[in-house]
Amino acid sequence: MTKTRRQMAEDLKFVDLVAELLDARIPRSSRNPDIDELVGGKPRLIVLNRADQADPTGTARWAAWFRSQGHAVLETDAKSGKGVAQFSGVIRETLKEKLAAWNEKGQVGRPIRAMVVGIPNVGKSTFINKVARRKSAKAGDRPGVTRGKQWVAVDSGLDLLDTPGILWPRFEDEQTGLHLAYTGAVKDDIMDTETLACHLMEELAQSYPDALIQRYKLDLPPRTGEEVGLEYGYALLERAARKRGFLKPGNETDTERMGRILLDEFRAGKLGTFTLEEPDEQ
Ligand code: G4P
Repeated sequence: MTKTRRQMAEDLKFVDLVAELLDARIPRSSRNPDIDELVGGKPRLIVLNRADQADPTGTARWAAWFRSQGHAVLETDAKSGKGVAQFSGVIRETLKEKLAAWNEKGQVGRPIRAMVVGIPNVGKSTFINKVARRKSAKAGDRPGVTRGKQWVAVDSGLDLLDTPGILWPRFEDEQTGLHLAYTGAVKDDIMDTETLACHLMEELAQSYPDALIQRYKLDLPPRTGEEVGLEYGYALLERAARKRGFLKPGNETDTERMGRILLDEFRAGKLGTFTLEEPDEQ
């Protein structure tokens, strides 16, 4: 067992509920595959974070799906703080039976303890800081402070563990790796930037063609059905490069530059909001 996993197993013993942060743009890929086993039977709140960057209708579909799986759901934008105020209320509602049982046992005023878990870059530290209404940097960044387990009081009835549980992302198939790379959850050195951008072009052309048409003034050529996706993505990258005037000597298009720009603009939200994955039908 790795150190982080051991630490998380230790932390989990102390909490009544786990808030699992997911990237609302890629709720499947941003889930850790071992989360169920790790968390065991503890009640869980699914936080669809980065909701500001996701397609609202996609987020609504995912929220309904997670609810159908028996989880409580909260949609948030931790950066602006939108949705964060509901955190405490949703947790109380989720744990209402437990709270009633505590009351019956005379444990009135016992605070609920919760912790945040998620893969890197999903917004865990930002979320904890917003919930705790503070501006500080990551807790671990303060030098010279020996840290035991620290709790922040969200309100009089809810304590949140100061440090999040860091989960490793899944790498089960190529598409998962691509989605994590487009969104910046993993470094884009899984493949060269241009190839990554070709994949993104191709995927956006399928699911959000209007975003490409508007941003890059592209007329999307019909697909022949014979070319592989990557070739189609490359053809679009070339067209976009030409539209933007990214040319190299000899009138060759600078697709590498265009690829970097596509990824940057996608991540900066300049192309709009996207949900790249759909919940399973069953
Ligand atoms: P982590 O602890 O899970 O690793 O993630 P962290 O909170 O450090 O957040 C990573 C980046 O994502 C930060 O941006 C943060 O501001 C941004 N972020 C977190 N939640 C949201 C959200 O809901 N919406 C949006 N749009 N962004 C979010 P950064 O570039 O590292 O810093 P900065 O630009 O905010 O200064």
